[in-house]
Amino acid sequence: MTLKEREVEELTEAALREIAEAGTDADLERLRVHYLGRKGAITQILRSLGRMAPEQRREVGRQANAAKEQVEAALARRLEALKEARARRAAPALDVTLPGRTAFLGRLHPLTRITREICDILVHLGFEIAEGPEVELDFYNFEALNIPADHPARDMQDTFYFNDQVLLRTHTSPMQIRVMERRRPPVRIIAPGKVYRRDSDMTHSPMFHQVEGLLVDRGVTFADLKGVLTAFVHQLFDPDVGLRFRPSYFPFTEPSAEIDIACVICRGQGCRVCSATGWLEVLGAGMVHPAVFEAVGYDPEEFTGFAFGLGVERFAMLKYGIDDIRLFYDNDLRFLRQF
Ligand code: DAH
Repeated sequence: MTLKEREVEELTEAALREIAEAGTDADLERLRVHYLGRKGAITQILRSLGRMAPEQRREVGRQANAAKEQVEAALARRLEALKEARARRAAPALDVTLPGRTAFLGRLHPLTRITREICDILVHLGFEIAEGPEVELDFYNFEALNIPADHPARDMQDTFYFNDQVLLRTHTSPMQIRVMERRRPPVRIIAPGKVYRRDSDMTHSPMFHQVEGLLVDRGVTFADLKGVLTAFVHQLFDPDVGLRFRPSYFPFTEPSAEIDIACVICRGQGCRVCSATGWLEVLGAGMVHPAVFEAVGYDPEEFTGFAFGLGVERFAMLKYGIDDIRLFYDNDLRFLRQF
């Protein structure tokens, strides 16, 4: 390394060190003038190149140009760093007394909540939970439940069919058949789950939820049906709620009943929700039809039983005072956070 080259190297090192230590914009400006100004040290060297021997000129020229670029970059970096430090000092001090941001806690969907509540009560009454397929065979959904081929429920208007034999279950009642064909009495099951119908408005959704119940043994009577369902409804709604059993018809039960409770909104006075009747229908039920027992190989002379079915959305609407079923499926957090 020639003397000249060493001089440029030392000059560069000194410049970079002084820039790194500069504490103000003015210091930096002074250093810029000192090294890169019209009479600056690095400028002088670049000017003197013309007087050097060609050999030395190439080497020193390359070195001095590199030094100029390095010093320019260092000046810019330091200027930026000083600016950031000033901004940091100007920012308001951290207020450690501010409350922290609360983390959002997820919560159970109202349908999950009511389903669990319904199942908890029934499990405590001795029922066990059974689950089965939503894509169901015609045999389980209709045939074995004593719903004949010309029954209106089988209409394409009401049922989603995949083909002649395969459909989306329209109720949870096929679980009665699936359980009974696998076991002998006593049978005490509830079957919660999704069901599907071609229906959609303020109180109907093409997919909704039901809970089915089935109890079969020797000597089961309509009094057992009344006792179990009364205990269930009283626990779920209110021990004082009025209850009535109305004769009704279902193909898979005989006799059949629908169970009403006194309107939870107007307490029986008559309002929009109960269509001014003072009553709300909450359950379908009945004594298992002998034809259903025959379909699963139970002897109707030996065994009797009762079945019931309820709509989960309807229960949730009554219990939480919700008037549009579609709110359950919108996933609007403003709605869901209320539960
Ligand atoms: N499966 C009926 C429906 O979806 C509800 C029902 C009524 C179920 C009476 C039952 C019953 O088990 O006994 O409309």
